[in-house]
Amino acid sequence: MGKMTSTLLAAIFLWSLVTINGEGFPKFGRLVPMESRRTLVTTDSGLITAADVHDGYRGLYHLQFITMEPSSLFLPVLLHTDMLFYVQTGHGTVSYTTEDGTTRVDVERGDIYRLEEGTVFYVRSHPSPMREKLRINAIFDTNNMENPSESFVGAYSNISDLVRGFDEKVLEMGFGVSKEIIRSIEGVKPPSIIPFTPKKNESKKHNWKEGIFEALLGSPTDIINKKKKKTKTKTFNIYSTSPDVENCNGWSIAVTKKEFRSLKGSHFGVFMVNLTEGSMMGPHWNPTATEIAVVIEGQGMVQVVCPSKPSGEGGDTFRCQNTQFRVKEGDLFVVPRYHPMVQISFNNNSFVFVGFSTMVKKNYPQFLVGERSVLQTIERGILEVSFNSSNTTIETLLTSQRESIMLSCTSCAEELERKVEEEVERQKKEEEEARKREEEEARKREEEEEARREEEEARRREEEEEARREEEEARRREEEEAKKREEEEARRREEEEAKKREEEEARRREEEEAKKREEEEARRREEEEARREEEEARRREEEEAKKREEEEARRREEEEAKKKEEEEARRREEEEAKKKEEEATREEEETERREEEEAREREEKEAKRIEEEEAKRREEARMREEEEAKKREEEARRREEEETKKREEEEAKRREEEEAPTTREKEQTTEEKQEAARKEGGGRGWKKGGGRGGEEERRVNKKQKGEEEPTEREREEEQATRRLERQREEIHERERG
Ligand SMILES: *[C@@H]1O[C@H](CO)[C@@H](O)[C@H](O)[C@H]1NC(C)=O
Ligand SMILES: *[C@@H]1O[C@H](CO)[C@@H](O)[C@H](O)[C@H]1NC(C)=O
Ligand SMILES: *[C@@H]1O[C@H](CO)[C@@H](O)[C@H](O)[C@H]1NC(C)=O
Ligand SMILES: *[C@@H]1O[C@H](CO)[C@@H](O)[C@H](O)[C@H]1NC(C)=O
Ligand SMILES: *[C@@H]1O[C@H](CO)[C@@H](O)[C@H](O)[C@H]1NC(C)=O
Ligand SMILES: *[C@@H]1O[C@H](CO)[C@@H](O)[C@H](O)[C@H]1NC(C)=O
Repeated sequence: MGKMTSTLLAAIFLWSLVTINGEGFPKFGRLVPMESRRTLVTTDSGLITAADVHDGYRGLYHLQFITMEPSSLFLPVLLHTDMLFYVQTGHGTVSYTTEDGTTRVDVERGDIYRLEEGTVFYVRSHPSPMREKLRINAIFDTNNMENPSESFVGAYSNISDLVRGFDEKVLEMGFGVSKEIIRSIEGVKPPSIIPFTPKKNESKKHNWKEGIFEALLGSPTDIINKKKKKTKTKTFNIYSTSPDVENCNGWSIAVTKKEFRSLKGSHFGVFMVNLTEGSMMGPHWNPTATEIAVVIEGQGMVQVVCPSKPSGEGGDTFRCQNTQFRVKEGDLFVVPRYHPMVQISFNNNSFVFVGFSTMVKKNYPQFLVGERSVLQTIERGILEVSFNSSNTTIETLLTSQRESIMLSCTSCAEELERKVEEEVERQKKEEEEARKREEEEARKREEEEEARREEEEARRREEEEEARREEEEARRREEEEAKKREEEEARRREEEEAKKREEEEARRREEEEAKKREEEEARRREEEEARREEEEARRREEEEAKKREEEEARRREEEEAKKKEEEEARRREEEEAKKKEEEATREEEETERREEEEAREREEKEAKRIEEEEAKRREEARMREEEEAKKREEEARRREEEETKKREEEEAKRREEEEAPTTREKEQTTEEKQEAARKEGGGRGWKKGGGRGGEEERRVNKKQKGEEEPTEREREEEQATRRLERQREEIHERERG
């Protein structure tokens, strides 16, 4: 439960811390690689890098890594927090001031050292034949445990910066030196680490230790009344005690728990300062206390110097810068710890203010000028290089002023106020100028805008004009076009009209022509007709005549023909009668012959059938004997044979027929002989004869009968032969089929 609450609180605190302080330290990481370290200073003589880490709860830690070449000097700084460091490499000397005075320690690799806050220190690296660098790694306690609300103002600040932060007049009066001296120390600022070789014969400050001791203890020679009345009562009157410091320039009192026991346990102390006219509370700072003061009398000027400008710092809330302001009765002003300050009264009035200081520890205000100046604790040689000044300048600076706290400062406030006013004026002017510039800019922009707009407008108008012109042009062109078209049209129409007229004319002419032609034609035709008719008439007449002649000829011919026909008919009748007679005799012969023939044919047929049957039987028997394969061949051969036979027969018949007429004449003689022989042989010859020989004989016989009419007979014979052949062919075909 408790743990949870604390965690919660821590978280809330962390959140608020980040919110407040976030801008000062942008990177709070658990891991910070080497290359993410920030570089604070880098010169030929050395390098300072830094890193910030946060533990995630409330711890914020700042680390620095200081690397110095041999024979270099890390210029004096005022430490704002505790610093713990160890030496990584090299050899050197660390000089620092404590309550006991200035201490110098030689450090080497492995040494660990702690320096308290408020300490002024500087470091020298020893010459090294090996050119070994002095490396110091340091951690700074950034957590002000007593007053966590105070912001971290950086680990340390340059001593020279603390001095330079003040106004020229303030320094001049504070150090009690001339303006030239001040100007010379405000020249070019050297870097943090510079080459340095200490002079062999360093003339030592005689009483520096003593002075420091006094300064740090705050028990200066100015203090008149060392013995303060101590009270244990609940109340304490500031006027009842003697001032701690008092001189012609004023006085100051600080009330702590030492003087007023009631303050024990309180974080606050009280102080009061009464500055007479033209005086100054010398430049100083409080290492542990923040002053909150209220002006109770008069007016004054206050100047506060920013002790450091830690890199990465930003944001208006914590902006650290040198400031100066005028305060009057009732005004309240705050000066944080380590911030060097001065309060100055005007020439015409005293300046009284009462304040509270957050005094948690013993606070020894530290002064810059006079015998108790912090500068007195630093070797002159170091100061020389710190301020880049000659030994005489430093000498003058440190010895001209004795007083450290209450100083005379005539017209300082006035001058400062003037400067402030000037500054304000300047700023105002600057602002005004900036405003004017801005206005001017705006006006210019406006004008440009206006010009642009106008231009645009003009352009637009021009474009419109152009468009209008174009439109106009287009319209004009169109009109012209239309007009032209119309004209064209008119012209065309006219032309057409003319053409039409011409055509009409032509047509008319043509028609007339045609008409004329037609008339001509008609006339011609009429003439022709007349001529034709005439011709026709003539022709007809001729034809008529011809026809008549022909008719006459035909009639004559007919008569002739009729006469001839009659003659013919008479002749034909006579012939017919004669032919009929012949026909009758021929028919008789024919009948006789046909009978003979038929008888013979029957015999032949019978013989042939028997013969063929016999042959067929033989053939069948033979064929049956023959192989089945040769059957078709045989058939083919048979057909061929038959073919051949037929051809031969035909050939023979043809030959016979051809031979017949020639042989017939020859035969007539032979026939006579044969007739004689036949008469002798009793007519056996023809009976024995088969085939053609018999036929010929028969034919011969027949011829013998018709010897009187050889032509008629021959015709008959031929006819008979043909019939016979036809019959034979029919028989053959039937056999084949
Ligand atoms: C120191 O001042 C002199 C002029 O007085 C100047 O030339 C020189 O550069 C300065 N040195 C440094 C380190 O600024
Ligand atoms: C000290 O002075 C050097 C240059 O002269 C500067 O770079 C550095 O930031 C100063 N240190 C602080 C803490 O202001
Ligand atoms: C160095 O100082 C000593 C006295 O401390 C003196 O005797 C010596 O002469 C000085 N040397 C030089 C070179 O100034
Ligand atoms: C301050 O001192 C002056 C003269 O020394 C004196 O007149 C004045 O009353 C003092 N003011 C206060 C508030 O003590
Ligand atoms: C004193 O002088 C300052 C400036 O010179 C002026 O502002 C102020 O009013 C004067 N005080 C008195 C009381 O006259
Ligand atoms: C300053 O240094 C020069 C030599 O550099 C020396 O002669 C002179 O005495 C020194 N002055 C003081 C005041 O130390």
